[in-house]
Amino acid sequence: MKVTVVGAGNVGATCADVLAHKEVANEIVLLDIKEGVAEGKALDIWETSPINLYDSRTVGSTNDYTKTKDSDVVVITSGLPRKPGMSRDDLISKNAGIVKMVTEQVIEHSPNAKIIIVSNPLDVMTYCAYLTAKVDRSRVFGMAGVLDTARYRSFLALELNVSPKDIQAVLMGGHGDTMVPLPRYTTVGGIPVTELIEKEKLDEIIERTKFGGGEIVKLLGTSAWYAPGAAAAQMVEAIVRDQKRIFPVCAMLEGEYGMKDIFLGVPVVLGKNGIEKIIELNLNDDEKALLEESAEAVRNVMGVLDNMNVGA
Ligand code: LAC
Repeated sequence: MKVTVVGAGNVGATCADVLAHKEVANEIVLLDIKEGVAEGKALDIWETSPINLYDSRTVGSTNDYTKTKDSDVVVITSGLPRKPGMSRDDLISKNAGIVKMVTEQVIEHSPNAKIIIVSNPLDVMTYCAYLTAKVDRSRVFGMAGVLDTARYRSFLALELNVSPKDIQAVLMGGHGDTMVPLPRYTTVGGIPVTELIEKEKLDEIIERTKFGGGEIVKLLGTSAWYAPGAAAAQMVEAIVRDQKRIFPVCAMLEGEYGMKDIFLGVPVVLGKNGIEKIIELNLNDDEKALLEESAEAVRNVMGVLDNMNVGA
């Protein structure tokens, strides 16, 4: 198996490091446009192999896509990260051009790859890659829900003083401040979370989750990378190992949840074919209203992209 990670910034390098460490693929290519950066980080990661005891090879490339040829999965992290005070949507014009260019190269050299987008604004960059790649929607999707539910679950674990391993949750909608964590579908060791935390506290945790990315940007002056990189790697693993994991993933909807022609976070089954199934939950009226509000926010940014004629 071969996996390429495009963008050797903090998120891309972390993703490659986790993939190598877990031996998810025997060849992991890290590519960047900055001379030497991908080679340097790939070499540094490889030099941990005798310490961490794995044999996945990490290979670096300065913008030479021939090295990525016939990858099974490609993760695209390219683009500018957020600065304090910026929303993810502020990045659209710069990052759309970058994601389009990268996707063209990726699909030319790996026509059968499953493509995972990590660049922001996430839902719309996934749409941009989908328009560019011109392949089935099961093969182009975005990483956001795995990260956002991880944040939600990590906060719940702190509050309840229990292992994060025992917390399961579903979160839907766009990767932005309108994302929709679903307490009705959150359990702790099989117990509904609503039986363990009072509503006010749970609402606080949900608010913190929605702004979880911004919390890190404020602290660090740039976007997060450990959790985003690990989240993308977990999606790669589900595909490479055909695990059929259920994750919230940014997927193109064609009638699911009553929506069409929109990329939005929904629970899916992820396996060797990419998105193998979109799971439709029976949302109540309040949850539907929140999802619709989130969809509206994503549609607005998709409209900006449509005006840029990326698919042309
Ligand atoms: C975040 C960025 C990666 O949520 O969108 O941290």
